[in-house]
Amino acid sequence: MRQKFVAGNWKMNLTLPEAQALTSEIVQMLHDEQLGADKPQVVICPSFPLLSIVGRLLGEGGNVALGAQNCHQKESGAYTGEVSAKLLQSVGCQYVILGHSERRQYFHEDDELLSQKLKAALGAGLRPIFCVGESLETREAEDTFDFIAKQLKDGLFHLSNEEFDKVVIAYEPIWAIGTGKTATTQQAQEVHAFIREQIAGAYDAEAANNTAILYGGSCNAQNARELFSQPDVDGGLIGGASLKSRDFVTIVQSF
Ligand code: G3H
Repeated sequence: MRQKFVAGNWKMNLTLPEAQALTSEIVQMLHDEQLGADKPQVVICPSFPLLSIVGRLLGEGGNVALGAQNCHQKESGAYTGEVSAKLLQSVGCQYVILGHSERRQYFHEDDELLSQKLKAALGAGLRPIFCVGESLETREAEDTFDFIAKQLKDGLFHLSNEEFDKVVIAYEPIWAIGTGKTATTQQAQEVHAFIREQIAGAYDAEAANNTAILYGGSCNAQNARELFSQPDVDGGLIGGASLKSRDFVTIVQSF
């Protein structure tokens, strides 16, 4: 069976003391409380300066993995203010979010750049959590499927089979991110099933069946169970609700 995931994307939130408190609470709750049989891989993605300390609090060999929210496409060099995949790996990251709509929109990251970032991440031994998702305008124009197909083809499907095996995909409709307007289970399921079909076409049925596809966009403690019950929804990429320990752990328990 495919691996389930719940990844918390803290975005540009939390100070060091806040991050320490939240991490300790999550670790404690996950230790004390019952998880379902279908236990997900939990990933926490703080901002760069918090990675080392959060990683230490998660503990070596613990059940919660560390992820970053971005990386640079080059291995090292004179790129002031940037962070390489190799550095992320060296501070304990196993995952990196790439192609988030906020990076595409505010930092103009396009498919070409994301392709390079994917290669850099994979080269450093990180597993990319690669995001796709349409705007409200695209959905209303009934272009969602074509749009997602293009994001996958141009951004992701250049990877070799071996590289693609390491990728986790997140479907995040932009209109649902941080808006409280979650996709219906049917809307999520139909796009997830479509993404799986596209993977089968680009690679093969085995790759399609093995790839975890997460839903993101106002996923919370109340709606996670219903979303995760869909056959092609393998967990969530959680923004706002990952900043509250009780809500995040409830989401982790929603399988
Ligand atoms: O990466 C996470 C997503 O952008 C979802 O954010 O749960 O605050 O809507 P949200």
